[in-house]
Amino acid sequence: MKVTISVIKADVGSIGGHIRPSEALLNKVKKVIADKAKGLLIDHYISYTGDDIAILCTHKRGVLDEKVHKMAYDAFLAGTEVAKKQGLYGAGQDLLKDSFSGNIKGMGPAVAEMEIEERPNEPFLFFAADKTDPGAYNLPVYLSFADPMYNAGLILAPSQEKGFRFTVMDVEYVDADRVVDINTPEEMYDLAALLRDQERFVVESVYSRKNNDQAASVSTTRLHNIAGTYTGKDDPIMLIRTQGNFPATGEILSTFTIGHYVAGFMRGSHHGPLMPVKLNSSISYFDGPPVVSCAAFCIRNGILSEAVDAFDHPYWDWVRGQVSQKAQEIRRQGFFGPAMLPFSELEYGGIVEKLKRIDKKFKVKK
Ligand code: F6R
Ligand code: MG
Ligand code: MG
Repeated sequence: MKVTISVIKADVGSIGGHIRPSEALLNKVKKVIADKAKGLLIDHYISYTGDDIAILCTHKRGVLDEKVHKMAYDAFLAGTEVAKKQGLYGAGQDLLKDSFSGNIKGMGPAVAEMEIEERPNEPFLFFAADKTDPGAYNLPVYLSFADPMYNAGLILAPSQEKGFRFTVMDVEYVDADRVVDINTPEEMYDLAALLRDQERFVVESVYSRKNNDQAASVSTTRLHNIAGTYTGKDDPIMLIRTQGNFPATGEILSTFTIGHYVAGFMRGSHHGPLMPVKLNSSISYFDGPPVVSCAAFCIRNGILSEAVDAFDHPYWDWVRGQVSQKAQEIRRQGFFGPAMLPFSELEYGGIVEKLKRIDKKFKVKK
C-alpha cells in the first residue's frame, strides 16, 4: 500500500522567550488537526521540540498536497491566535506570508515528506531540531548512509552493498530548487566536498541504490532567504526509514553521539554542539544549546504506533553531559573566532551597521 508520511513544523509562539510553546497553544493545534483529520488523514501525532510544534501525519494524498498543507497552515494560524491572546513571544513568527497559495513550502514552516510503498513492517524515525538549520543533518546523514565506521551495515548487510544516492540542494539559490544527485560509495569525495559547507549545501533526500526506495527526507527551508531578514533559525525536521535495506535505527542514532558543532544557538548567530534530547524538551542555556529529538515509529496501513523516545536512555544522559562540556568550551570564547558565525551568516544586522559606520573612518597609510 502507498502511504505518505508528512511532517510540517513551525514556531508560532513560545513562553518566556524561545523556550517552548504553551499547553493552550499545543491544545489548539491538536484540536484543529483532530477536527480536520476526518476524511483527509489516516493518522497524526503532534509534538514540540524547543519552541517548534511539529504535525506528523500519514495519508494517501502524496507529497506537496494542497489540502494537507492547508490543514497544517490553518492549525498554525489558529495556534497563532492563542499565542497572541496569551502574549506569547514570537506569535506567528514562522508564518511569513499571510495567504496560503497551494503548498506551505517556501512560506516559513518546515516540511519533510515521503510517499512510500509501505513494507509489511515499516519502522521510521522522526527527527526535530531547534536553534539550528538544515545543514545540521549533513554530518549524521553522511555518516549513517555512507560511512561504515558508523553504519556497519554498509559492509555487513548485502542489502546495502550498492550504497545510497544523495540529493543535495544548494540552499543559497532562491529562485527554485537547485539540486544534484551524488552516488555513494563512488562519489564519496564529491559528497564530502559539498556537505562540509553546511550553510550552502544541504542533504534533501536519500535513496537506496538497491531498489530506488526513498530512505530519508530533510526539510530545506531557509527562513533567512524567504524573509530577506532574520525571523528565527530554520529548525529542521527529518524523516528516515530504517532496517532491512536501510541502516538500522541504532546505526543512525549512533551518529548523534558526536554532538557536532552546528550553526544556530543564541540569535541564530553562533556555533554550538547539537545535543540529542528527549521528546518535548525545552530550550535553555544561551537560547540553546541546539537540540535534536527523535521519535521512533512503526506504521501499518498508515496507522502509527505510539511514539518511542529514541534519546530517552541512560546512554544519552552521558552524551548530554559530554555535549554540555562542548557547549561550554566554545561559549568560553564568547564572540571570538568560530564561536560566532561568519559575517554572511549573522542573523542580526548590528555588526553590518557597525562596520559600515567604522568603514568611513578607515585611512590607507601612505
Ligand atoms: C534563536 C532565537 C533567539 C533570539 C533571541 C533574541 O533562534 O530565536 O536566540 O534570537 O532570544 O530575540 P529577540 O531579538 O526577539 O529579542
Ligand atoms: Mg523561536
Ligand atoms: Mg525554533
